[in-house]
Amino acid sequence: MGGNFVIAGGSKGIGLEIVNQLVPSADRIDVFSRSQGDLADHEKVFRHDMDFTGTDLNFSDIPEVVNGVVYCPGTINLRSFRALKPADFRADFEVNLVGAVKFLQGCLPSLKKGSMEKRASVVMFSTVAVAQGLSMHASVAAAKGAVEGLTRSLAAEWAPKIRVNCIAPALTDTPLASRFFSSPENREAMALKYPLGRTGVPADLASTARFLLSSDSSWMTGQVLAVDGGMSTLRK
Ligand SMILES: NC(=O)c1ccc[n+]([C@@H]2O[C@H](COP(=O)([O-])OP(=O)(O)OC[C@H]3O[C@@H](n4cnc5c(N)ncnc54)[C@H](OP(=O)(O)O)[C@@H]3O)[C@@H](O)[C@H]2O)c1
Repeated sequence: MGGNFVIAGGSKGIGLEIVNQLVPSADRIDVFSRSQGDLADHEKVFRHDMDFTGTDLNFSDIPEVVNGVVYCPGTINLRSFRALKPADFRADFEVNLVGAVKFLQGCLPSLKKGSMEKRASVVMFSTVAVAQGLSMHASVAAAKGAVEGLTRSLAAEWAPKIRVNCIAPALTDTPLASRFFSSPENREAMALKYPLGRTGVPADLASTARFLLSSDSSWMTGQVLAVDGGMSTLRK
């Protein structure tokens, strides 16, 4: 595939697996996260400290030309609507939506240069809880609904130069979701909810992100792809 990629949240979970899948073919990968996490040292990978809830974020370290960017930071703040405070909604909105806005505005000049090579792709992350109403998900579903709206708006605004797509996962075994996998019984109970008989692993989502970053998806933009074991559309 070649090219330069910037992964927000490439130190753990799905973002880390995206980095690992890109490493063999990418020219350079820049990762922004608050910690090193599980990211291994590699000559092609450059990690920069960043908290996307902060202000005045500095993207000057990314290459002049970028061919693909992915925004991974997200939340799973599950509580009844009654228990959720306005501050919870603001916090989820800050990480999921406003952080993505800061990231994309920071990367845009380099992405525009990537688009001159006809290769500029953006991948965002939503959740199954937008397409399917799930109780206790009001705050994260509202924030991710905004991410899906942003995806389609930017896909229109930036076409035909920059493609913008989004992936909507269901429960996936990452640090963010570790509390749902705390025992073999929990794991088994979660798997039974899925038409495909299992919950997700980071590679399920990373391979979809890799496809969306590559020219194999060059006629796709403005899409929200459900990668969710069938949860959003099927009932067994
Ligand atoms: N896992 C699931 O079951 C699931 C289900 C539906 C949707 N999703 C969505 O999929 C995406 C990826 O989820 P994941 O499970 O891979 O999450 P994860 O395990 O928490 O990994 C998130 C990554 O983002 C970074 N990050 C988090 N907050 C940040 C911040 N404020 N500033 C900078 N970096 C930050 C983390 O690194 P540091 O901690 O080092 O900063 C980490 O590298 C998220 O948008 C999530 O909402 C996940």
